[in-house]
Amino acid sequence: MFKNAIVRKPCQNFAQGLTTQEMDAPNYETMLAQHTAYTQTLRDLGLTVEVLEAQEAYPDAHFVEDTAVVFLEAAVITNPGADARKGEEVTIEEVLAAHRPIERIIAPGTVDGGDILMVERHFFIGVSERTNEAGADQLGAIVEKYGYTWTKVPVAAGLHFKSSVNHVGNNSLLITDTFKDRAELAGYPLIVLDTDEEYAGNTLLINETLIMPQGYPKTRAKLETLGLAIIELETSETQKMDGGLTCLSLRF
Ligand code: GLY
Repeated sequence: MFKNAIVRKPCQNFAQGLTTQEMDAPNYETMLAQHTAYTQTLRDLGLTVEVLEAQEAYPDAHFVEDTAVVFLEAAVITNPGADARKGEEVTIEEVLAAHRPIERIIAPGTVDGGDILMVERHFFIGVSERTNEAGADQLGAIVEKYGYTWTKVPVAAGLHFKSSVNHVGNNSLLITDTFKDRAELAGYPLIVLDTDEEYAGNTLLINETLIMPQGYPKTRAKLETLGLAIIELETSETQKMDGGLTCLSLRF
């Protein structure tokens, strides 16, 4: 049960962040409005939300999920995989230290939180261009110490593992076609996305509610079979910067 969330206000030069997308130019006012709606939605769902100041030196810093992996017993401060993002984790550690004992990923290990999916007491650790083998092994050893199981999963498509695979409750995974036959995911009920709606794969489960990107009707129909409440949020400016709904917060 999540009770808290940390978000960060996007900075004015957020459009200078890392992205592989070739879409329309991102708009700051629209980004702020979408971020405010996201924050309010978390509050409406009963979470206490701490909103951190924008960091102009780090255009991707509002993607706070990449800077930490938080679970009941501890918070692991990551070493983000992109050089331009190293340092975002410093202020996150200060905030999380008030909530959890702190563990750390140490170089040469790198981890982005977007590659880490916790399903009950199991961690899937995506090995990607951002999370390397050393970082995955360090994180695995840390969570194992607290009694969790873990497996590494190669991320051969998308920026992060959670660009393609997310937990939507009762162990069910919302998943892209590319990942659906992965041996590491065998045994989990899968909801496979239509290829023209893959961006909706980054849907965020907050307790009994699913927050999904607006405008993906086929995915919504599939998620409705789960019987959870569903909220749609506009995510256009986040998508332009290779981000999604999970990236915008840390939940615990
Ligand atoms: N813009 C998100 C990232 O590349 O980390």
